[in-house]
Amino acid sequence: MTIHVKNNIHWVGQRDWEVQDFHGTEYKMTKGTSYNSYLIREEKTVLIDTVDHRFSHQFIQNLEMEVNLEEIDYIVINHAEEDHSGALSDLMARIPNTPIYCTENAVDSIVGHHHHPEWNFQVVKTGDSLDIGNGKQLIFIEAPMLHWPDSMMTYLTGDAVLFSNDAFGQHYCDERLFNDEVDQNELMDQCLRYYSNILTPFSGLVTAKIHEVLSFNVPVDMIATSHGIVWRDNPTQIIHQYLEWADNYQEDRITIFYDTMSNNTRMMADAIAQGIHDVDPSVAVKVFNVSRQDKNDILASVFRSKGILVGSSTMNNVMMPKVAGMLEEITGLRFKNKKAGAFGSYGWNGGAVDRIHSRLTDAGFETTLGLKAKWKPDGKMMLKCREHGRMIAKQWTLKALPLAEASAPVSNLQVSKQSTVECFDAAPVQNAEPSVASQPTIGSVATSEALSPTDTQKMLCTVCNWVYDPAIGEVNQGIDIGTCWSDVPESFLCPECGLGKDVFEPVKGA
Ligand code: FEO
Repeated sequence: MTIHVKNNIHWVGQRDWEVQDFHGTEYKMTKGTSYNSYLIREEKTVLIDTVDHRFSHQFIQNLEMEVNLEEIDYIVINHAEEDHSGALSDLMARIPNTPIYCTENAVDSIVGHHHHPEWNFQVVKTGDSLDIGNGKQLIFIEAPMLHWPDSMMTYLTGDAVLFSNDAFGQHYCDERLFNDEVDQNELMDQCLRYYSNILTPFSGLVTAKIHEVLSFNVPVDMIATSHGIVWRDNPTQIIHQYLEWADNYQEDRITIFYDTMSNNTRMMADAIAQGIHDVDPSVAVKVFNVSRQDKNDILASVFRSKGILVGSSTMNNVMMPKVAGMLEEITGLRFKNKKAGAFGSYGWNGGAVDRIHSRLTDAGFETTLGLKAKWKPDGKMMLKCREHGRMIAKQWTLKALPLAEASAPVSNLQVSKQSTVECFDAAPVQNAEPSVASQPTIGSVATSEALSPTDTQKMLCTVCNWVYDPAIGEVNQGIDIGTCWSDVPESFLCPECGLGKDVFEPVKGA
């Protein structure tokens, strides 16, 4: 199958609806992908890139239905990674003397993958051109690290099409080829997912390369990427979007991610999230369990965030392994201009929170107060977590908060300073933006009107001894903090043993 792109340009690539993994299993593809190859037929016939090696046979079969392979005068390989040069071995077996235009680094990689140093490589640099007849030329633009050291783009004069390879692409599969034909939300989600998970470390290079391309002052009528759609409607929109993403991008968003052994750190995460929302309802708070949710979704959310909160139970005096893996990946992505904090519950020793804090600091985040809770958070601890969230919201706010929001009490329950909670100043906040409201002291939450004993009555599960505390609620069953027992629905089930309300009785003296 081929698709007409423009004038004498046709798409001759391959759809891959079922692929789920890229870079081993490090990048999950949720919408498939495509491997875009283009055939240009002017006085000379040119093939731009090939497809993933798994589709070599199908690619050449399709290509032969479109053109006599012997008529291909030039092959341009913009990038040697196997998803683009993978079909070269089979193709060159059919047309072995065809010149391959690529960067010097690409020769190294192509030979390393395909083991044919005798192929007719033609090394090009930025500004080199190739006349393909009918008054048109291909102009080559090196683009190292977008996405590999060998990458380049190719610009076709006359038609004003930029073959950008990985840059401006996305892992997105649709039978429709052009950006104006597909679901715009899906498209931009996949563009952001691709940029945040793959290109973030090279943001400085992205900015420099885009300005270099813009300095050529040539028209760009289409951007033909190597994955996903071709940008033909307002094609420079993705260039401007990349410039924005490359410039220490952040939204009014906080990402919380954690792993949890006994649900305790999860309880902290939920309460912290609620505390942030108490003070700053406009901030988007997103909470993820790293052991259950998609890693690339979490990283994309981190990319969009002004700050992150990372939680882990302490296991063998260190953090849980999936959290450690996430921190390693975040370090490699080299996020800039973001704040961070650590939290977690522990039993015998709380080493995880200290280690997370250190790792976040080493990764370049502006770290703030951490928060530890010993064992399962009780009502007082949950209030402290919520108060911690309130403090974070104030510290990290991007705007002046309404006074009422900034100073409103979390709850009407008094918090004792004699708590199992350990709050620590793991490091001073560096260059923190001034808080618009005085910061609360954890463990000294303000009080307001008192609740009646009925409102605060804790209830004991007589089967497993789990305690329902109105000050905590039961977030997993949608029961908000502050819900008294009489308002808990009859459908409620004990989260420990699964039995209903009828096995509960009041906790004496509570
Ligand atoms: Fe699409 Fe860098 O490969």
